[in-house]
Amino acid sequence: MKFPYSKEVLEHFQDPHNVGKMEDPDGKSVIGSPACGDMVALYIEVDEESSVITDIKFESYGCASNIATGSIITELAKGKTLDEAKKITWKDASEALGGLPNIKVHCSVLAVDALSEAIQNYEEKHGLIKDPVATTVELIETRLKHVFNPMVGLDIIKTNLVKDIQVRDGVITVKVDLAPDHQFAENIKSEIMDRLEFLWDIKEVTIEFIR
Ligand code: FES
Repeated sequence: MKFPYSKEVLEHFQDPHNVGKMEDPDGKSVIGSPACGDMVALYIEVDEESSVITDIKFESYGCASNIATGSIITELAKGKTLDEAKKITWKDASEALGGLPNIKVHCSVLAVDALSEAIQNYEEKHGLIKDPVATTVELIETRLKHVFNPMVGLDIIKTNLVKDIQVRDGVITVKVDLAPDHQFAENIKSEIMDRLEFLWDIKEVTIEFIR
């Protein structure tokens, strides 16, 4: 059987560039793929004067294509201005990787979406978007659909683990139907924080375990 990945994909998968978490990034995104349930987090550091991306890192919980595209996307974006980086497409990533199998195109779309969301997050936080969309309960719910309930393997919204969501004056409160000392409580808490705390108009996220 011929392995369907190019030499470049395998190289970037085996030795990915710019992997890791950035403490206190200027822009951040955490997004999941509806096609496969995988996830990518992306962090950027931006020079305010020149709008150049001076540093960029990613973490992937996806497949080999996703790790390889995360690696190449971060390489392509580093040193570019935000406007230049916004123009990077999944096709650019795929070309730089010597092509991706059709069935794996969504993995590169996921990496590109992560980059554009991190840029959007930076622009929202820095007042560079005219009418930024305020965080609503619906938006929070959409984001929490990507947090899994490890006891069941489905998301915490579908499995009714989230009992209440409120957002007021930049503070989000999420009530979770679990005992605070439950073995998965800490894990679920940090996944919820990961998806909400970087939103541009949010100052604080509180998780209450109510069982
Ligand atoms: Fe999920 Fe590739 S199959 S990111």
